[in-house]
Amino acid sequence: MLRRPIALEIEKSPRGPLFLAIAEAIACDIARGRLEAGTLLPGTRALARQLNVHRNTVDAAYQELLTQGWLRAEPARGTFVAEDLPQGMPLSGAEPNSSPPKPLRPTFGFTDGAPDPRLVPNNALARSFRRALMSPAFREGSDYGDACGTLSLRQALVSYLASDRGVVADPGRLLITRGSQMALFLAAKAVAEPGAIIAVEEPGYPLAWDAFRAAGAEVRGIPVDSGGLSIDELEDAMGRDRRIRAVYVTPHHQYPTTVTMGAARRMQLLELAQRHGLTVIEDDYDHEYRFEGRPVLPLAARVPADLPLIYIGSLSKLLSPGIRLGYALAPGSVLARMAAARAAIDRQGDAPLEAALAELIREGDLGRHARKARRVYRTRRDLLAAALSEMLGERVRFDLPAGGLAIWLRVTDASAQLWAERARKAGLALLPGKHFALGRPAPEGFRLGYAALAEAQISRAVDILSQTWPG
Ligand SMILES: Cc1ncc(COP(=O)(O)O)c(C=O)c1O
Repeated sequence: MLRRPIALEIEKSPRGPLFLAIAEAIACDIARGRLEAGTLLPGTRALARQLNVHRNTVDAAYQELLTQGWLRAEPARGTFVAEDLPQGMPLSGAEPNSSPPKPLRPTFGFTDGAPDPRLVPNNALARSFRRALMSPAFREGSDYGDACGTLSLRQALVSYLASDRGVVADPGRLLITRGSQMALFLAAKAVAEPGAIIAVEEPGYPLAWDAFRAAGAEVRGIPVDSGGLSIDELEDAMGRDRRIRAVYVTPHHQYPTTVTMGAARRMQLLELAQRHGLTVIEDDYDHEYRFEGRPVLPLAARVPADLPLIYIGSLSKLLSPGIRLGYALAPGSVLARMAAARAAIDRQGDAPLEAALAELIREGDLGRHARKARRVYRTRRDLLAAALSEMLGERVRFDLPAGGLAIWLRVTDASAQLWAERARKAGLALLPGKHFALGRPAPEGFRLGYAALAEAQISRAVDILSQTWPG
C-alpha cells in the first residue's frame, strides 16, 4: 500500500504539548473524513521531517491516537486509520471539504479497570489460534461441541485454578462462557426464579445488575464499607425479605472501591450462606493482579462441600475484553441448568479460540504474560498514587490498593460529578460515583482505572484533575 504525505495544520504555538497538537490535527482530519478508515499514515520519520519536529514527538502523537483507538498499528506494515473509530466523535456532522472544523480535543481517560491492549501476547495467541484452526480436530469435526466448552480448555483452566488460586475442581463442573457477563446472566437464570432477589454490593458493578435483571431477578443493594460487603446488613435485609436467594460479591477487589474482604468477614458470609441456603455468586474478575502482601484465595477455595457457590472468572482483565472468554464453576445441578440456558441462546462457544487459549495456558504463555503485566501495572499504580498525593493533596483521599487495576479516589470537599464534567471539557474522561450507585446517594469519588494509560498519560491525567478541581 502506498504511503502518501498528509498535509496537517498544526497550531504554531499550541497551548499543550506539541505531540498533542499533532494528535488533535490528525484526529480532526479523521473525524471529518479527510483521512479515511484504512489509510496508511506516513512513517514517523517522514512526518517528523515534514513538520520539522523531532521524530519522538510524532511517535508520541501516534501512540496517543493508537491508545484512543483512532489508529491501529500493524507490525512491519505501518500505522493505519482505524476502522472502528472511537465513540462520540462528530462524524455525522462532518462534511468533507467543508471549512476546517474547530480542532477536536481528543479525550483520553481513566477506564473502570481495563487492561492495556498493547501488552496482549498477540503473536503467541495468533500462533495458537492458527494451530487450532488447522488441527484435524477442527478441520474434520463436523458437529457441534459441548455447550460447557472445549474439554482441553476446561482441563487447562482446572489446573490453572488449582495451582494459582487454590480452587480444586473437576472439568465437569466448569462452563466456558463468552465473558463473565454471560456467566452472570446464566447464574441468575439458574438460581433465581422470576421475582427472586439477588443481593448485590452497593456501590457495585452495574453490568451485573443488568445481567441479573435480564434473567428475571430483582437486585437489592447492600452497603459496602472499608471491609467490603457488610454481612450484618445482608443478614438484616434477608430477615426483612425472604425472597433474597443469592448474593453477588467481588471479595478479592471490591468493584468499584477495590477493598479486599478480610478473612473474618469471609467466614461470616459463608456461615450465613450455609445457614440460609443462600447461593454465593463470587466474581473474581482480576485475580492475577495482586501486587503485594500474601495471596488472598477466593471464597471458592474454602467453600464447604454443601454450600452452593458459583465462582466466575474472566480473561478480560488478563488479556483483553475483546477476547470473549469467561467461565463459571458451579455445583453439578446448577451447572446443568446454566448449560441448558446457554445452549438455548448460544449452542456452544468459539471452539478454535477456546483451544488456542488452552494451549496458551498449557505452554505457560498466559502465566508469563500475567507476570509481565503485573510488573507494568504495579509501576503505573505507584506512579498514579504518587502523582495524586503530590498534585491533589488534601482535595482527595485514597488507600493504595493491594491489587486490581484501579484506585478508588474519594473527593473530600467538592462534587465528583462536577469535577468529572469539568475534566471532560478539558479532554479527560472520568467515572464518578454515580455510575456505581443503585439507590443510595452516589459516593463522592472516582474509580480510576489506570492500567491502559502509559506513564506520560498518567501524569497528564492528574495534571488535568488538578487544573479542573471544582472546589
Ligand atoms: C466486576 C467485573 N466483573 C467482570 C468483568 C469482566 O466482564 P467480561 O468477562 O464480560 O468482559 C468486569 C470487567 O469490566 C468487571 O469489572
